[in-house]
Amino acid sequence: MKCALVTGGSRGIGSAICQKLAAEGNYHILINYQNNEEAAQQTLQKVKESGATGEILKFDVAIADEVKSVLSQWQDNNPDAVVEVIVNNAGITRDGLFMWMSQDDWSQVINTSLNGFYNVTNFFIQKLLRNKYGRIINMVSVSGVKGTAGQVNYSAAKGAVVAATKALAQEVAKRNITVNAVAPGFIRTDMTGALDEKELIKLVPANRFGEAEEVAELVGFLASKKAGYITGEVININGGIYS
Ligand SMILES: NC(=O)c1ccc[n+]([C@@H]2O[C@H](COP(=O)([O-])OP(=O)(O)OC[C@H]3O[C@@H](n4cnc5c(N)ncnc54)[C@H](OP(=O)(O)O)[C@@H]3O)[C@@H](O)[C@H]2O)c1
Repeated sequence: MKCALVTGGSRGIGSAICQKLAAEGNYHILINYQNNEEAAQQTLQKVKESGATGEILKFDVAIADEVKSVLSQWQDNNPDAVVEVIVNNAGITRDGLFMWMSQDDWSQVINTSLNGFYNVTNFFIQKLLRNKYGRIINMVSVSGVKGTAGQVNYSAAKGAVVAATKALAQEVAKRNITVNAVAPGFIRTDMTGALDEKELIKLVPANRFGEAEEVAELVGFLASKKAGYITGEVININGGIYS
C-alpha cells in the first residue's frame, strides 16, 4: 500500500491537498490533525468520495514522542505500507510585534513548523532512502522568504524550513527523493479568516486572496512522478507579491 501523509490535513490548505492527492488516485491518504476530529472526518469523507482510500491520524507534530509513537504504531499495524509522499503542512501563527512577543508565542510557532518538519520527516527518511523514491513538500510562506513585520516568529520558522528544504534536497537527490517548499501568500482559510481581506488585497497584484485548491494543484504536481527533476526549490504562489 503506497501512502501520502499530509500533516494538518483536516482543514484549509491541508484538506485541499488531501482531496487533490486522492483525486490523482495513486495513494492511500493519511490525514493528520491535532484537535479537530470532525474536520478530519469530513476530509476523509471527501477523499473517499474521490474513490481513494484514507484514514485519519491524530498527533501533534510539535511533540516528538507523540509523533514517534503514533507513527510507529501505525507502521507496525501496516507493515506493507510505504509512505512515498510527505506534505509537511501543519502550521500556526501567533502574530504580534517582536518587542512584545512572549517566549511561548515564539516557541509554539517554531515547534510546530520547524520541529514538526523534523519530527515527521526524520521518522520516514531512512525508509524513503531504502525505497529509493520519495516526495517531500514543505508548506512555508511568503513570510519565510521576504519576512513580514508582526510575524518575526512565523518568518523565522518558515525561513528555517526553506533552508532545511534546500539542504535535505541535496542529501537525498541521488535516491530519487525530491524535497521542495511551497510558499503561499494570502490564501482564504481559517488562518486568514480574521484578516481584513479588502485592505490586504491592495498588496496583491492579482487583487484577491488565493484559494486552498490553487495551492493543492501545485502540491499535486510536485508530488507526482512528473516533477522528478525539480528539487531544492521554493515555489511562490502568491498572486504576484514581490518576494
Ligand atoms: N492561509 C494562508 O494564507 C497561508 C499562507 C502561507 C502559508 N500558509 C501555511 O499553510 C499551512 C496550512 O495553513 P492553513 O491556512 O490551511 O491553516 P488552518 O486553516 O489554520 O489549518 C491548520 C491545519 O494545521 C493543523 N495543525 C495545526 N497545528 C498542528 C499541530 N501541532 N499538529 C498537527 N496538526 C496541526 C490543524 O489541525 P486541527 O484541524 O486539528 O486544528 C489544521 O488542519 C500552514 O503551514 C501555514 O503556515 C498559509
